[in-house]
Amino acid sequence: MYLEWKSSYELGIDKVDKQHMRLVALINRLDESHRDDKGRDTVETVFQGLMDYCNYHFVVEEMVMKNHGYREYDNHKIKHGLFIEKIKTYKSEYLKGDITSLLKTIDYLNSWLIEHIMVEDRQYVPVLKEKFH
Ligand SMILES: [Fe+2]
Repeated sequence: MYLEWKSSYELGIDKVDKQHMRLVALINRLDESHRDDKGRDTVETVFQGLMDYCNYHFVVEEMVMKNHGYREYDNHKIKHGLFIEKIKTYKSEYLKGDITSLLKTIDYLNSWLIEHIMVEDRQYVPVLKEKFH
């Protein structure tokens, strides 16, 4: 399912919003590469790219949280870690031949991401809004 970015997803922190938009675009790209039958190698590359960018984005968020003593830092970091694990698991299931589950995977990734943005990320906005440079 193609996920359209909505302005209601924005946190009002330019750097973070741009990264979140890119994550949505990468999940959509995964969806497209699967639907267009681009082949397993391409899907795997897109999967890997999504994971790499997630890692990068999470490190950016976590650094700001940590540097400013954000009290939810540990919890938030754990949630990021679980998400990365989830992507890894889905990727290896796909590579083992479980191709049909990919659409479910994409739905899961999208709904996790949007919920995470709307709930956990939104919580740090009042505290960290000015801290992302
Ligand atoms: Fe986050």
